[in-house]
Amino acid sequence: MSRVYDDGRLASAYEHGNEMPEASLRAWVELIASYTQRSSPSIVEIGAGTGVFSAAMARWIEGSEVVAVDASEAMLAEAHRHHPHPAVRYLRGEAEAVPAAENFFDLALMSRVIHHIPDRARAARELARVLRAGGKVVVRTTFRERLDALVYDYWPRLRAIDELRFPGEQEVVADFVSAGFALEKVTSFAQPVAANLEQYWARLVVRPQSKFTRLTDEEFHRGLTRMEAAARNKTSVKPRAVLERYDVAVFSCP
Ligand SMILES: C[S@@+](CC[C@H](N)C(=O)[O-])C[C@H]1O[C@@H](n2cnc3c(N)ncnc32)[C@H](O)[C@@H]1O
Repeated sequence: MSRVYDDGRLASAYEHGNEMPEASLRAWVELIASYTQRSSPSIVEIGAGTGVFSAAMARWIEGSEVVAVDASEAMLAEAHRHHPHPAVRYLRGEAEAVPAAENFFDLALMSRVIHHIPDRARAARELARVLRAGGKVVVRTTFRERLDALVYDYWPRLRAIDELRFPGEQEVVADFVSAGFALEKVTSFAQPVAANLEQYWARLVVRPQSKFTRLTDEEFHRGLTRMEAAARNKTSVKPRAVLERYDVAVFSCP
């Protein structure tokens, strides 16, 4: 697997650079929860990172118990520090070998992680093993054919980089269907992540995502300067919130 998140600097920057307003996080949790009809669900998050979603699910999905799995000790250390919750258990582990018994979970979340997993087919088989019959997998990502992040406007080379990193919808669907899942739906959901471009820019200064490690320092700073200039350009109309849109694929375990 990619070891980029083993870097303590990136783990700490990730936590600070990927915040979102509470209302946005809550809207995401409501969407994710809507895919399971089970009460007090047992949930696994694969690639839980600093635990933002795991802790939010534990907080807002009544009676839920969450196992938050991540391959990086550095990310888990941030999770323990910033998002401890009595109903969340943080565990070191990999998507391809989930540290859990079979038929254990009702719901699995994979948020912004599918492109990091080298053996997706094996990860899908692992989820088929640990989910109960009727359990759901929610994949939150941007499929290659719909890469539309705002950062591409300022770092155009990132789009080419991400076209090589992110899988297409059909590739992901094929891996899950081969593992025995049925595709339930693919949808799209967007929420504000910052009140305006200036706030968004201030967050990116710490280079908080693995994609930025692919750029040279000079390239990174050039893009950042362009974004800062756009953010400070007060001649434009009223500042608008910055939204992030994701594709959401939902699979059902037979
Ligand atoms: C971009 S972060 C996403 C964190 C969180 N899910 C979110 O949406 O903010 C990707 C995370 O996946 C983890 N990861 C990458 N490959 C993995 C694998 N094969 N198994 C488990 N975790 C993995 C990384 O360590 C990192 O914490």
